[in-house]
Amino acid sequence: MPKPLSAQTIQLVKQSVPALAANGADITRRMYSLLFQDDHIRELFNHANQGEGGSQVKALAAAILAYAQNIENLSALLPVVERIAHKHIGYHILPEHYPYVANALLAAIKDVLGDAATNELLEAWGEAYWFLADILKEREADIRSQLESQQGGWTGWRAFRIEKKTRESSVVTSFVLRPVDGGLVARHKPGQYLTVRLTLSDGRTVKRNYSLSNAPNENAYRISVKRESTGQGASRYLHDAAEVGTILEATPPAGDFYLPDEPQNPVVLLSGGVGFTPMVSILETIASEYPEIETHFVHGALNGQTHAMDRHVRTLASQHGRATVKTFYSEPLGEDAAGYSHDHDGFITVPWLENNTPFDSADFYLCGPKPFLAALVGGLTKAGIPSNRIHYEFFGPTEDLLAA
Ligand SMILES: Cc1cc2nc3c(=O)[nH]c(=O)nc-3n(C[C@H](O)[C@H](O)[C@H](O)COP(=O)(O)OP(=O)(O)OC[C@H]3O[C@@H](n4cnc5c(N)ncnc54)[C@H](O)[C@@H]3O)c2cc1C
Ligand code: HEM
Repeated sequence: MPKPLSAQTIQLVKQSVPALAANGADITRRMYSLLFQDDHIRELFNHANQGEGGSQVKALAAAILAYAQNIENLSALLPVVERIAHKHIGYHILPEHYPYVANALLAAIKDVLGDAATNELLEAWGEAYWFLADILKEREADIRSQLESQQGGWTGWRAFRIEKKTRESSVVTSFVLRPVDGGLVARHKPGQYLTVRLTLSDGRTVKRNYSLSNAPNENAYRISVKRESTGQGASRYLHDAAEVGTILEATPPAGDFYLPDEPQNPVVLLSGGVGFTPMVSILETIASEYPEIETHFVHGALNGQTHAMDRHVRTLASQHGRATVKTFYSEPLGEDAAGYSHDHDGFITVPWLENNTPFDSADFYLCGPKPFLAALVGGLTKAGIPSNRIHYEFFGPTEDLLAA
């Protein structure tokens, strides 16, 4: 832990919160235009995804503002620190990158607040920034050293070859990735994601997170990708252009959403749409390693055509013996019939979970689109499930999720 912040710094940072919040958008814009003057810093970010108005771009500035608002209660930020540190590992952010953000942030505060940005205030912000930066750097150093010492582990970008491409549904295709160097891979934690760097057909390079959909192992990773018809095209490239033999790069598995090493409670896996991917990794792990853990795999899909990996999931559940599978279709097609192709029409609801899962003892793992998470994370919380039994992943920037 770095040296505690002085009382004066806390006071000054706190006093500046209203002005920063009122000018948040301007400060963010200014900060990024300064930060991205440096090409090598610009390249660390995920431009194809963002543009300067993009929500992921705002995440860093929003985190800094949230930090200022919580400066007297920093323990509230610890879960966020863990999530950010893993994100940074995925994007290969190193200690030497931190001064660039410090300089851009302080210069942006100065430019936007004008005379109100006294030297005293800027010094306080500098101290506060480095306090948070040091916590992140320390945690990131720990994760990196663990990855370096782990069998098959590495840091930074490593080349992988697509070994297998499998259509899982009308919208989802899986890719098995093996290192080009022929070495082993680091065992991931079931639920974690890989960050991949792709060069699209038009030459643009993009970085994307994909949850691993297979159980931890030393040989290969599998990702399962939904084709998005709009957007910058990473998923379209993977579906339409990438083939067996295509090379892409990846940083090691990261992410703070995973099944713990020794699960104790029953497990309820709740997914919507392509959010099934980390759940399949968890279910594969439970099926092979934890025969005693009661498990419920509950999935919501649009219909039978978009529903991926159903047979695989049911096979895993029957091998396990103490796992159930229930599926909900929100837009069933003519050929879909509740009781045959799927279990229920409509959406997964909290009352259904109360009646059909070990509600009072289970750990709930959730992943899906924003409305799915908003309804179920909110609903479980309202129904009295403590936050330490609700774990969720979201396939986008935290900023977007919080807005929902
Ligand atoms: C931790 C994590 C795990 C993930 N795991 C998976 C997975 O297992 N499988 C999977 O398929 N995907 C996963 N994703 C999502 C994945 O990273 C990509 O976002 C996805 O493949 C779409 O990429 P794309 O380039 O095709 O489209 P994008 O360019 O990312 O666009 C996707 C959609 O967002 C919209 N959009 C793009 N930019 C903006 C913007 N600035 N504002 C508003 N809307 C915008 C687009 O119109 C489009 O509808 C994961 C994401 C995260 C963060
Ligand atoms: C105290 C300092 C920092 C804070 C508080 C911070 C905060 C954040 C947050 C909140 C996210 C989004 C996480 C999510 O969506 O879950 C993020 C992602 C990211 N951060 Fe940081 N960050 C800091 C420093 C840095 C530095 C120094 C760099 C590099 C110069 C950097 C580069 C990135 C990148 C590349 C991402 C991934 C998002 C993307 O562009 O797609 N961050 N950070």
